[in-house]
Amino acid sequence: MLSPEKNAELTRVGPGTPMGEVLRHYWHPVAAVDELERSPTKAVRLMGEDLVLFRDLQGRYGLLERHCAHRRADLSYGMVESEGVRCSYHGWYFGHDGRCLAAPYEDVVSPDGRFRERIRLRSYKVKALGGLLWAYIGPEPAPELPDWEPFYWKNGFVQIVFSEVPCNWLQAQENSIDPVHFEWTHANWTLRQRNKPGPYAPTHLKLAFEPFEYGFIYKRITEDTDENNPLWTIGRVCLWPNGFFLGDHFEWRVPIDDENMLSVGWFFIRLPKEREPFEQKTIPSWYSPIRDEHGRWITTHIINQDIVAWVGQGRITDRSRENLGASDQGIAMLRRQLFEDIDAVRAGRDPKGVIRDPAANHRIVLPSDHRWFFLDGLPLAEYEKEPKWHRLLYHFLFHAGQPDWVKRQYEEAAGIRLRDQNIIEL
Ligand code: FES
Ligand SMILES: [Fe+2]
Repeated sequence: MLSPEKNAELTRVGPGTPMGEVLRHYWHPVAAVDELERSPTKAVRLMGEDLVLFRDLQGRYGLLERHCAHRRADLSYGMVESEGVRCSYHGWYFGHDGRCLAAPYEDVVSPDGRFRERIRLRSYKVKALGGLLWAYIGPEPAPELPDWEPFYWKNGFVQIVFSEVPCNWLQAQENSIDPVHFEWTHANWTLRQRNKPGPYAPTHLKLAFEPFEYGFIYKRITEDTDENNPLWTIGRVCLWPNGFFLGDHFEWRVPIDDENMLSVGWFFIRLPKEREPFEQKTIPSWYSPIRDEHGRWITTHIINQDIVAWVGQGRITDRSRENLGASDQGIAMLRRQLFEDIDAVRAGRDPKGVIRDPAANHRIVLPSDHRWFFLDGLPLAEYEKEPKWHRLLYHFLFHAGQPDWVKRQYEEAAGIRLRDQNIIEL
């Protein structure tokens, strides 16, 4: 339980707020490389700041405040040129550093360019990695952009999926350290959605939570597993401060503002050995819907089920009215760490997990119980014998609404036909 004041401290993300300042010490994924190839500008809202992300005609990325310095038109409707983006209202032209490179009518009237000299938009850093575009809008110098090793896994098909979710980022991130929900939100609820009476999934018997350099690891034992199971020996990673690594995919909960977040998923599936060598030219990205035609939340896919839990807690969940139990030790650790991070930033230090040493930032391996599988791969016949991977090979279970063009790319890469995309038992 948290007081309303403490809850506000953890959840507000705007400039100058305690948590907003902590989160501004990290890079955040805000778009995909392929999105900007399809359309060279994207409106981005990150931690309450309206920005325009663009790819200029030389292929370089830029990130500026969204509204034109002239009379505030929306630069996400601007046109990119070789040095930056030009406003479609009166043609003012802005470079990557936010300087005004041209203001056509003013340049005619005052050819010395003096008028433009004092004009400058806020500009920020962008980097591409893993098919994602990462933004840094915090204090300089910027830390390293974490170079996670899974971004280099070979012979796999990767897709990036976004959903805009109308709730605060923290309740989603608390889901990254919440082992018991797998049993209920995914296994048992799925079973009941299929009108099956049971039996319910094996219940959790034991949990453990441990801090590590880049976040926390949680471990669990259910009735059908023991301490030799990878879910106990390796566990899952609550990645600091707003990520989740489940051994085969990443999720990030990126704050749009106090009451909205962008769910960003990066999904890897190793292709059957017969398809090797496979090199993916472009990583496809798409937006997944979260409501059905009746306005109800979609419940048929894994992350959609998570989203139902998050939005159900309210726009900003009232943590003064909760009752944390033994299953929530991880939640308590996460909050304690965030308060420590707030103190660290106030004292001029880095919060947890910020990487400053470039030498330490090379293909960082994260704990994964699936690593053997992704490194070695399996022929199709063997794949079919692995219950979990067999399901994931034939179904994209994580998000509703996978577009046909992504399905086709995947089927071509994997050499198989996708099956029913609705929920199946886990
Ligand atoms: S508002 Fe952008 S050029 Fe006038
Ligand atoms: Fe979940």
